Amino acid sequence: MASSRTSPRGPGRVLVVDDDRRAASALAAWLCRTGWHARAAGSRGEAERLVGRWSCDVCVIDGGLPGAPALLAALGRAVPAAATLVIRTATGPDATDLGADAVVGPLPADADLEAGISAAREAARLRGRTHAAPTAAPLGRDPVFRQAFETALRIAATDATVLVTGESGTGKSLLARAIHAASRRAARPLVEVSCGSLADGLLDSELFGHVAGAFTGAVADRPGRFVEADGGTIFLDEIATASPALQVRLLRVLQERRLEPVGSGRTRTVDTRVILATHEDLEALVAAGRFRADLFWRVNVVSIELPPLRARPDDVAVLADHFRTAAAARAGRESLGFTAAALAALARYPWPGNVRELEHAVQRAVFLGRSPLIDVADLPPAIAAAGGGQRPGALREALFDPERRLILEALERHGWRRDAAARHLGINRTALYKKLKRLGMDPRSLPPPGSPAAAGSGSRPAASSAARSAASRSR
Ligand SMILES: Nc1ncnc2c1ncn2[C@@H]1O[C@H](COP(=O)(O)OP(=O)(O)OP(=O)(O)O)[C@@H](O)[C@H]1O
Ligand SMILES: [Mg+2]
Repeated sequence: MASSRTSPRGPGRVLVVDDDRRAASALAAWLCRTGWHARAAGSRGEAERLVGRWSCDVCVIDGGLPGAPALLAALGRAVPAAATLVIRTATGPDATDLGADAVVGPLPADADLEAGISAAREAARLRGRTHAAPTAAPLGRDPVFRQAFETALRIAATDATVLVTGESGTGKSLLARAIHAASRRAARPLVEVSCGSLADGLLDSELFGHVAGAFTGAVADRPGRFVEADGGTIFLDEIATASPALQVRLLRVLQERRLEPVGSGRTRTVDTRVILATHEDLEALVAAGRFRADLFWRVNVVSIELPPLRARPDDVAVLADHFRTAAAARAGRESLGFTAAALAALARYPWPGNVRELEHAVQRAVFLGRSPLIDVADLPPAIAAAGGGQRPGALREALFDPERRLILEALERHGWRRDAAARHLGINRTALYKKLKRLGMDPRSLPPPGSPAAAGSGSRPAASSAARSAASRSR
């Protein structure tokens, strides 16, 4: 099937994860028949163990799988280049299509599944490219955040080792990618290594490579992560989880900038810029004897601390709108904005999961929301509760974009009568329709003429994906 659309390596590997193991196996068997190397896993745990040994190119996850969001996060760490596709469940309010590269409706027909896999691969490819592109610059206007970001850009041009700290989800990985993208190394690889995921027994070969025949199973030369990043950047993520053995290896390579592939008997130099990240307090770990002091001093050359989202209140709305537009484009869904009540809830919530939590909450609202205008009820319960009985706000308060706001104000003022609103704006009806379309608003989705001006009133419910799920395989 998808062989013509896939990577130059050919069809590649697909992992199918469904707590209904028979369904997972049936889908994997079908994928094998269409030319993929497919394997099935019956639980999140099994999938996570499997990708440790068998890195997949695509992971297809049943939306009803317990722990699906955690699995998506784990895949993002273990196999960041893998494309993820979620099959939405027909019933579940917990259709956990959060953060996947693509989503298909329940019981997808073969063609829908193929299209979904292609879309996920394309999104994953763009994701990889976007991360390296300067346009993926982290968003935010909070002064502390700006300062951190500007420091990052200033030192990007140097080869200095950078330690990025901050709570989980504050954007450390994003910042590391932005530093690489802004450096002279941008055209060379950025290799991401999650330090906790490296097995001690394979450390040397994993980091420094090996030559064929160095040990049983070493059938071919392998470059190792530092050599892969030669001329580029290595991003050592979750550095606090590095085992004592890994800490020793890192210290040596950081000091000497030389390494020895296993079995080669020769050392070689590498020109690799090192960026590290942690959400833990490394100094405290040094004091507790859990992190080597000499390695700490070696990595703590330039350190950049990212503030938690609760300390940057002005950025919440900016980020929320950015994630909303991106999720709507990705899901092919229409989205107009947030109600004032939803914005109030977002502003009050303390965001323990930081920007990642906000991103997931907004994606969820875009995917699951019934109206193109996100309301409090569309937010996860804990966040909705933070809003505390706000009155539903007027549409105009909820939208950011000035042109969109002007148009919606005119429509609202004239009871959603298109002709009157167009006259009010000094344009004709056709021009108004064109503008609405250009702003991503389907004129048909607006409240009917004569409607009152309440937020979200009269919005057309989003097209049901269940309508597309006529055919099914064995599920
Ligand atoms: N300033 C920002 N602008 C746009 N997107 C952001 C920003 N900060 C974070 N994000 C997004 O939020 C999500 C979490 O960010 P990221 O993965 O970089 O966090 P992290 O600090 O590395 O988390 P962890 O400690 O769990 O690894 C990502 O999808 C990232 O793209
Ligand atoms: Mg990270």
